[in-house]
Amino acid sequence: MFGGNLTDQDKGLERIFRPLPQTVIQANISPTEYEAAMKRGEIDFEGFWEEAAEELDWFKKWDKVLDRSGAPFYRWFVGAKCNIVYNALDRHIETRIKNKVAIIWEGEPGDMRKLTYYELYRKVNKFANVLTSLDVKKGDTVAIYLPNIPETAIAMLATAKIGGVHNVIFTGFSAMALRDRLKDADARVLVTADGFYRNGKVVNLKAIVDEALEECPGVETVVVVKRIASDIDMIDGRDLWYHELVDVESPEVEIEVMDSEDPLFIVHTSGTTDRPKGVVHVHGSYMVGVYKTFQWIFDIKETDIYWCAVDIGWITGHSYGVYAPLMAGATTVMYEGHVLYPKADRMWSMVEKYGINILYTSPTIIRMLRRFGSHLPLRWDLGTLRLLGSVGEPISPEAWLWYYKNVGKENCPIVDTWFQTETGMIMISPLPVSLLKPGSVGKPFPGVLMDVVDTHAKSKKPGEEGFLIVKNPWPAMFTTLYKDPQRYREIYWEKFPGYYYTGDMAKKDADGYIFVRGRADEVLNIGGQRVGALEMERALRDHKAVEEAAVVGIPDRIKGEVAKAFVVLKKGIEDSDDLINELKNKIRHELGSIAILKTVEFVESLPKTSSGEIMRHVLKTSQGSSKEAE
Ligand code: PRX
Repeated sequence: MFGGNLTDQDKGLERIFRPLPQTVIQANISPTEYEAAMKRGEIDFEGFWEEAAEELDWFKKWDKVLDRSGAPFYRWFVGAKCNIVYNALDRHIETRIKNKVAIIWEGEPGDMRKLTYYELYRKVNKFANVLTSLDVKKGDTVAIYLPNIPETAIAMLATAKIGGVHNVIFTGFSAMALRDRLKDADARVLVTADGFYRNGKVVNLKAIVDEALEECPGVETVVVVKRIASDIDMIDGRDLWYHELVDVESPEVEIEVMDSEDPLFIVHTSGTTDRPKGVVHVHGSYMVGVYKTFQWIFDIKETDIYWCAVDIGWITGHSYGVYAPLMAGATTVMYEGHVLYPKADRMWSMVEKYGINILYTSPTIIRMLRRFGSHLPLRWDLGTLRLLGSVGEPISPEAWLWYYKNVGKENCPIVDTWFQTETGMIMISPLPVSLLKPGSVGKPFPGVLMDVVDTHAKSKKPGEEGFLIVKNPWPAMFTTLYKDPQRYREIYWEKFPGYYYTGDMAKKDADGYIFVRGRADEVLNIGGQRVGALEMERALRDHKAVEEAAVVGIPDRIKGEVAKAFVVLKKGIEDSDDLINELKNKIRHELGSIAILKTVEFVESLPKTSSGEIMRHVLKTSQGSSKEAE
């Protein structure tokens, strides 16, 4: 039962939390409607999603909801014409949302900007005209290497508005990682900033860009947002200031009429190969899936202030930081910096200051803040909160209960949302009116059919661990891997023919509640970010001292998981602490700050199968025999 009788001793493993009466009264969807939607989704998921699509604006409606003829290259809303930016922005300009605040932005030093929907609309149009003047046409990629500042959303929306394809690259990526992604996405135009503030320091973004572009001749133009107003090198003929370009442009632009299946963006993610892959999402089905899940899971109201406290560069930032809240006409908060800066109560101070109602963040952040104690959230008025969200990695019942009790004050349901870069939209989550079980992501969203199965795609019994799969096409699904449709088919659709393989292991309980255990493949989840073991191994193998390397994930109290490398050195090379540091730095330099290599262990050889595959599960459990250093 809900109630105020939680204690620190309460581990909550078996607890069930019933929906709060006040949540049920005001929810966008009642428990009975939710039950009916679940049934409807099972019998007729196409009809369910077609109805959801009717809630949005289209230039032309579809001839067919779903075309399966080219499976697994499914096509949704075939024949329809639309543009997601029309739903996120243009249509609001005709309504009372026009003058509502769309984005409240706070910089790390404490500076602040607010943009109404109308102001955002004009800025997007101006930048769209800039892009056109730079010869960006329908189907062209625009790369965006920007932190959480309004210009990131503006650049995304402007690109999409004229039919371009945006490729946002997380600013934690190093020059080499940036270069690889720019090349893969065939970007000709890159939008970046001179720098930004992070944890009390300035990150010189433009210097990283300059290094990346030394080996990236495809990028002809770099548009630079002035964020820190520092002295930077601007290369003649290549680099242009953002503010100078937008100043002279008109605030009106014609929106490009897109086919439902035309690409909207590419986001790179790590997988089971040694290169990141470009996940492609399209306008029509993406907007439907993201819109509907946001309405029901986040239970958004016109008066809400919503904060998706993650980086825009990731899928969560795209779907639920930019597109969903704008389509819903909500007010969304964006924060530039580190949540511990200048102190560990930065988030709580922002909740109080802006009166935030819905807070969506990651278990890593929750664990980090929990470490600083329960007294910090007590110092701030968190009374406006009415819904909490978690995403990106499994949350333990203990961390869930801490969040529930100390942040939500036992008055806020927690929606633990499971999804992936590939799925585009949340696939599994409780709704605010659901029963909640700490540590469980709840049930699949209505119209999404998922299961936990054995290697023959046979359902596992309740409580048994198995592979998590999706049994039906869903609207916000990615449509291919950029320039690599064969890999799309092989990686995701061949292991369980006819079904989508998530790469995750999970359990289902007798009520159908899903508990995600983690990845089944060679992908690490470091602080909620996916890092490919094979990408790290490739970087290690490139080192002159290294003969062979294998990387596995090991548990970490804050980050959930970090990497440990087993390294076989070339003959005659001595191990040393300097070498360990060199290897760690190499990983950081090539993959970026998210790829945390915590431990290196030197070994004589790696355990392998008869066909030469490294047996990572053996390494995961082994204690190793030789020198280990942290
Ligand atoms: O392992 C699952 C984990 O994150 C993976 C997807 O990572 P990415 O594509 O980077 O997207 C992260 C943000 C949606 C999944 O395969 N994951 C995501 N959400 C959860 C989760 N694991 C447990 N609980 C979650 N709520």
